[in-house]
Amino acid sequence: MLNKMLSVGEVAKRAQLAVSAIHYYEAEGLIHSIRNNANQRRFSRDVLRRLAIISAARNLGIPLKTIKMALSTLPQNKTPSIKDWERLSYSWQKELQKRIDRLTALKNTLDSCIGCGCLSLDKCQLFNKDDHLANAPQANRLTE
Ligand code: FES
Repeated sequence: MLNKMLSVGEVAKRAQLAVSAIHYYEAEGLIHSIRNNANQRRFSRDVLRRLAIISAARNLGIPLKTIKMALSTLPQNKTPSIKDWERLSYSWQKELQKRIDRLTALKNTLDSCIGCGCLSLDKCQLFNKDDHLANAPQANRLTE
Protein backbone atom coordinates (compact mmCIF):
# COMPACT_ATOMS: atom_id res chain seq x y z
CA MET A 1 0.00 0.00 0.00
CA LEU A 2 2.82 2.44 0.85
CA ASN A 3 4.21 1.96 -2.67
CA LYS A 4 1.10 3.55 -4.14
CA MET A 5 1.29 6.51 -1.82
CA LEU A 6 2.84 9.85 -2.69
CA SER A 7 5.78 11.65 -1.13
CA VAL A 8 5.37 15.26 -0.08
CA GLY A 9 7.41 16.34 -3.13
CA GLU A 10 5.17 14.39 -5.49
CA VAL A 11 2.07 15.84 -3.87
CA ALA A 12 3.47 19.37 -4.08
CA LYS A 13 4.39 18.94 -7.74
CA ARG A 14 1.08 17.43 -8.76
CA ALA A 15 -0.95 19.94 -6.75
CA GLN A 16 1.23 22.82 -7.98
CA LEU A 17 1.84 23.95 -4.44
CA ALA A 18 4.98 24.58 -2.42
CA VAL A 19 6.13 21.78 -0.14
CA SER A 20 5.79 24.27 2.72
CA ALA A 21 2.09 24.68 1.85
CA ILE A 22 1.59 20.92 2.08
CA HIS A 23 3.29 20.91 5.49
CA TYR A 24 1.17 23.87 6.59
CA TYR A 25 -2.12 22.27 5.55
CA GLU A 26 -1.11 19.09 7.32
CA ALA A 27 -0.10 20.98 10.47
CA GLU A 28 -3.49 22.73 10.38
CA GLY A 29 -5.25 19.36 10.12
CA LEU A 30 -6.69 19.84 6.62
CA ILE A 31 -4.84 16.87 5.16
CA HIS A 32 -3.21 13.83 6.70
CA SER A 33 -0.26 11.60 5.99
CA ILE A 34 1.24 8.46 7.42
CA ARG A 35 4.92 7.73 7.97
CA ASN A 36 6.87 5.01 6.19
CA ASN A 37 9.67 2.97 7.78
CA ALA A 38 12.14 5.79 7.07
CA ASN A 39 9.82 8.19 8.91
CA GLN A 40 8.95 10.01 5.69
CA ARG A 41 5.48 11.36 5.02
CA ARG A 42 3.33 9.43 2.59
CA PHE A 43 -0.01 10.67 1.31
CA SER A 44 -2.84 8.68 -0.18
CA ARG A 45 -3.88 9.86 -3.65
CA ASP A 46 -7.15 11.34 -2.46
CA VAL A 47 -5.08 14.16 -0.96
CA LEU A 48 -4.78 15.67 -4.45
CA ARG A 49 -8.53 16.21 -4.71
CA ARG A 50 -8.58 17.61 -1.17
CA LEU A 51 -5.80 20.04 -2.08
CA ALA A 52 -7.73 21.07 -5.20
CA ILE A 53 -10.72 21.83 -2.99
CA ILE A 54 -8.51 23.78 -0.57
CA SER A 55 -7.02 25.82 -3.43
CA ALA A 56 -10.43 26.58 -4.90
CA ALA A 57 -11.79 27.60 -1.51
CA ARG A 58 -8.79 29.82 -0.81
CA ASN A 59 -9.27 31.50 -4.18
CA LEU A 60 -12.81 32.26 -3.05
CA GLY A 61 -11.48 33.77 0.17
CA ILE A 62 -12.98 31.05 2.36
CA PRO A 63 -11.27 31.09 5.78
CA LEU A 64 -9.03 28.10 6.54
CA LYS A 65 -11.13 27.24 9.59
CA THR A 66 -14.24 26.94 7.39
CA ILE A 67 -12.36 24.84 4.84
CA LYS A 68 -11.18 22.55 7.61
CA MET A 69 -14.73 22.07 8.88
CA ALA A 70 -15.94 21.34 5.35
CA LEU A 71 -13.18 18.80 4.72
CA SER A 72 -14.01 17.06 8.00
CA THR A 73 -17.43 16.22 6.54
CA LEU A 74 -15.82 14.24 3.71
CA PRO A 75 -15.27 10.50 4.00
CA GLN A 76 -11.74 9.66 5.17
CA ASN A 77 -9.27 7.92 2.83
CA LYS A 78 -11.62 8.28 -0.12
CA THR A 79 -11.42 10.69 -3.02
CA PRO A 80 -14.10 13.38 -2.65
CA SER A 81 -16.82 12.83 -5.22
CA ILE A 82 -18.59 15.26 -7.54
CA LYS A 83 -21.51 15.20 -5.11
CA ASP A 84 -19.16 16.17 -2.25
CA TRP A 85 -17.82 19.07 -4.28
CA GLU A 86 -21.34 20.19 -5.24
CA ARG A 87 -22.37 20.25 -1.59
CA LEU A 88 -19.30 22.22 -0.49
CA SER A 89 -19.38 24.65 -3.40
CA TYR A 90 -23.09 25.33 -2.86
CA SER A 91 -22.52 26.28 0.77
CA TRP A 92 -19.59 28.50 -0.22
CA GLN A 93 -21.67 30.12 -2.95
CA LYS A 94 -24.12 31.28 -0.27
CA GLU A 95 -21.24 32.57 1.87
CA LEU A 96 -19.80 34.41 -1.13
CA GLN A 97 -23.18 36.05 -1.84
CA LYS A 98 -23.38 37.28 1.76
CA ARG A 99 -19.95 38.87 1.37
CA ILE A 100 -20.94 40.45 -1.95
CA ASP A 101 -24.06 41.90 -0.30
CA ARG A 102 -21.99 43.31 2.59
CA LEU A 103 -19.44 44.82 0.22
CA THR A 104 -22.18 46.27 -2.00
CA ALA A 105 -23.73 47.96 1.05
CA LEU A 106 -20.31 49.35 1.99
CA LYS A 107 -19.76 50.58 -1.56
CA ASN A 108 -23.13 52.32 -1.53
CA THR A 109 -22.18 54.03 1.74
CA LEU A 110 -18.87 55.07 0.25
CA ASP A 111 -20.69 56.39 -2.82
CA SER A 112 -22.63 58.76 -0.56
CA CYS A 113 -19.35 59.98 0.98
CA ILE A 114 -17.75 60.83 -2.34
CA GLY A 115 -17.92 64.56 -2.73
CA CYS A 116 -19.25 65.00 0.81
CA GLY A 117 -16.11 65.18 2.93
CA CYS A 118 -17.99 65.95 6.15
CA LEU A 119 -16.05 63.30 8.13
CA SER A 120 -18.90 63.55 10.59
CA LEU A 121 -19.09 61.03 13.40
CA ASP A 122 -22.80 61.79 13.61
CA LYS A 123 -23.72 61.44 9.94
CA CYS A 124 -21.16 59.26 8.22
CA GLN A 125 -21.74 55.51 8.46
CA LEU A 126 -18.14 54.79 7.51
CA PHE A 127 -16.77 56.71 10.48
CA ASN A 128 -19.44 55.68 12.93
CA LYS A 129 -20.61 52.34 11.69
CA ASP A 130 -22.89 50.47 14.07
CA ASP A 131 -23.09 53.31 16.57
CA HIS A 132 -24.59 51.26 19.38
CA LEU A 133 -24.33 54.10 21.87
CA ALA A 134 -26.47 56.40 19.73
CA ASN A 135 -29.65 54.77 20.97
CA ALA A 136 -28.35 53.79 24.39
CA PRO A 137 -29.64 55.41 27.59
CA GLN A 138 -27.83 58.60 28.55
CA ALA A 139 -26.03 56.88 31.45
CA ASN A 140 -24.08 54.70 28.99
CA ARG A 141 -22.81 57.63 26.94
CA LEU A 142 -19.56 59.38 27.56
CA THR A 143 -19.97 62.97 28.58
CA GLU A 144 -17.92 65.67 27.00
S1 FES B 1 -17.98 61.71 4.54
FE1 FES B 1 -19.90 62.71 4.72
S2 FES B 1 -21.30 61.05 4.82
FE2 FES B 1 -19.35 60.10 4.77
